[in-house]
Amino acid sequence: MTLASLVLFLTFTLLAFNAGHILRGVAEGESREQKVWARAGSSAVLPCHLSPRKMSKSGKQLPDKTSVLWKRHGGSAHQESHMVLEVGYSGLRKMSLPMRPRVSVQDSALHNGNFSLRIDPVRSEDAGLYEAQVAYNTDIQSCQVELGVVTVTLSPPSPVVENEPLLLSCNSSHRASLVETCWFHNGHLVPTSRTFCSLHGALSILRPAVSDAGSWRCQLRYSDNEIISATYNLQILGFDGPMNPVVYAAAGSAADLPCTLSYLPSAFGSNVVAAHWSRLAGGHLQDWDISQNSSSRSFPLHLPEVGPGDAGQYRCAVSVGSKTITRDVTLAVVTVTPSIQGPVSEGSRLLLICSLTHPRGHERFQWKHLDSVPTNSKLAVATSHNLEGQRSQTGPTLEILQVSQKDTGTWECSIYGPEGRLGAVEYGLHITGAQVSSPPAIFSGQVTFGLTLTLFLLLMVCVLALALQKRARSPAFPALEGMVAVTVPRKKEVQENQKEKIQQTEC
Ligand SMILES: *[C@@H]1O[C@H](CO)[C@@H](O)[C@H](O)[C@H]1NC(C)=O
Ligand SMILES: *[C@@H]1O[C@H](CO)[C@@H](O)[C@H](O)[C@H]1NC(C)=O
Ligand SMILES: *[C@@H]1O[C@H](CO)[C@@H](O)[C@H](O)[C@H]1NC(C)=O
Repeated sequence: MTLASLVLFLTFTLLAFNAGHILRGVAEGESREQKVWARAGSSAVLPCHLSPRKMSKSGKQLPDKTSVLWKRHGGSAHQESHMVLEVGYSGLRKMSLPMRPRVSVQDSALHNGNFSLRIDPVRSEDAGLYEAQVAYNTDIQSCQVELGVVTVTLSPPSPVVENEPLLLSCNSSHRASLVETCWFHNGHLVPTSRTFCSLHGALSILRPAVSDAGSWRCQLRYSDNEIISATYNLQILGFDGPMNPVVYAAAGSAADLPCTLSYLPSAFGSNVVAAHWSRLAGGHLQDWDISQNSSSRSFPLHLPEVGPGDAGQYRCAVSVGSKTITRDVTLAVVTVTPSIQGPVSEGSRLLLICSLTHPRGHERFQWKHLDSVPTNSKLAVATSHNLEGQRSQTGPTLEILQVSQKDTGTWECSIYGPEGRLGAVEYGLHITGAQVSSPPAIFSGQVTFGLTLTLFLLLMVCVLALALQKRARSPAFPALEGMVAVTVPRKKEVQENQKEKIQQTEC
């Protein structure tokens, strides 16, 4: 009986001593309470390191008999504290439900003195006060950490689809009353506008676009001046590129209509993807199924050869999980219509009309003659081609008043919009037969050669004739001739010379 009471007494004394030691530890600042904030869904680390002073005292080597016990004080459900995780001397670990799968300490904790508790992922109900008791030799060190949880709630839940209203809200486990909530998108404070209206601290986006995706941060300010913030990476399921894309294709060429998701479906945890193209034309429905694996987010429709009849609106529908999103794509076909059907003869007036099946009204047209001379392969703008009678190079109609050989080759009509070149169509101009005065170049060359030869022969005959005439007159009296030259006025001789010259030229 006395022995039993002695044992009980000793036990109580030991417990009281230990409790006193913990309190002393707190007083010394070894277990100063810390506060850690984490967003629900992310991970949190509740720090607890054995102080370096203690480490050096034990010679940088933790004593063999070291253990750690993490407890939680009064969770929301039950008031009494309960064990979260325990690592015994032997390294044996114990964890209790419901946090069992989400809590850990480093494997080497007992050797390096890092007893920090990692919670991954954090849940909103994890908020509360935690305490670690590290026992080594006869000492106990305590770490107290308050975990605060910020919850960002997205409704409807992911995946968020473009143009479907969404609400982002933010709350925290902080007990003071909330004064204001500010929202930042990619680091910028969101202005209060029609698109982003903030009510009761929540952020509402009526028509979310792909551009609204990215990092959103809520900043909560409380009456006790505590400021808490959390970031959320918002992904919006939609399509890349403009809202109502128009694809311009030349008649006779291939066209690819784009349909590309903003994210890989796997980013939304979905591998079930089905893409379907359809077109309502002339009262009947055409459709195409696009099979693509989940590592691709692009589902283009390939049309091998388009004509004006293929122009119009096409719809791409992509199903990701239970959601189906659609995008309309317009195919506009560019054609060239010549005013002369069939072969074009030289000298005739030709109009080339460039037209678009689905004009939006702001398109500009430009005509170019693609130079066929190989040494100058660069494109020559029609205006630089000294072609007479060409009025409009920038309108949809190209007018050639008199078609000539210089105009043969490829003409290109390009269409420009405010965003740049949209598309182009080519027209090959072939000229047949001579219609008017000027003979073909190769023939006129032969004529010129013949004429030159005839003239040359005539000249030779004249020179020969003159030489014979001179020889017949001069050799008889050369001295007399000289005297005559003295007595007779020089004019006569000049006149004679001139006569000769005239004769020569007359030849
Ligand atoms: C301590 O351990 C935690 C995980 O349990 C880790 O996140 C942290 O970086 C560690 N600290 C140091 C200083 O190694
Ligand atoms: C914050 O909101 C979420 C979702 O509505 C809720 O589960 C959680 O309990 C709330 N947290 C606090 C501290 O009010
Ligand atoms: C999925 O598509 C990509 C690109 O089209 C291709 O590289 C990849 O091999 C495909 N994977 C499977 C499993 O078919």
